[in-house]
Amino acid sequence: MSEPSNPIGQSVRDAATALLKSRRTIHEFDERVPPSALIHAAVDHARWAPNHYRTEPWRFYLIEHTVGLKIAALNAELVRAKSGEVVAESKLRRWSAMPGWLTITCALNPDSAREREDYAACCCAAQNLMLYLWAHGVGMKWGTGKVIRDPRFFEILGADPLREFAIGLFWYGYPSEVPVQTRRPVSEVLCTVAEH
Ligand SMILES: Cc1cc2nc3c(=O)[nH]c(=O)nc-3n(C[C@H](O)[C@H](O)[C@H](O)COP(=O)(O)O)c2cc1C
Repeated sequence: MSEPSNPIGQSVRDAATALLKSRRTIHEFDERVPPSALIHAAVDHARWAPNHYRTEPWRFYLIEHTVGLKIAALNAELVRAKSGEVVAESKLRRWSAMPGWLTITCALNPDSAREREDYAACCCAAQNLMLYLWAHGVGMKWGTGKVIRDPRFFEILGADPLREFAIGLFWYGYPSEVPVQTRRPVSEVLCTVAEH
């Protein structure tokens, strides 16, 4: 393969390539809370994601643990209504133990094509964020449960649901377990488009 024209050297190339395949969604964390300076640095890198028309449609909400507990309680209320007390209590216990909390929102746009592009940009930013943290030993879980669409979630955040929607609720921390994942072979997802 020919050398790329950007200034990235071989060692950076190897590290970046390894990072892409090794990142996993983390479901189980230990009790340590990553330093907020690291999360700030991750957000700094996340916002360099591509974004059409340079809309920078994202907002990052770094959620303090006491506020996270309010979200956990709201989620338990939603779960209780659907699945009953036992499941709700178990979710409440699990959520309350999560070390780090963060939400990314995307600007709403009356033009649905623009909003899709902005959502795509926010997802790119989320991936930047996850990869930056993974490179520093911190894992994340991206969640999109019902709670992130509840108006009370926005009240807790101090966010405006008429201007933005949440692309996810992200937990972060040091993994106590790293799951194994597989992917379908490249041949199943890649096709070459030849002239016909
Ligand atoms: C938009 C989006 C929403 C997701 N929502 C959830 C979720 O609600 N719960 C969950 O357990 N994982 C969620 N995930 C994580 C996926 O389950 C995970 O990426 C997938 O299992 C592949 O694992 P990997 O990230 O380790 O490669 C979400 C991922 C994306 C991109």
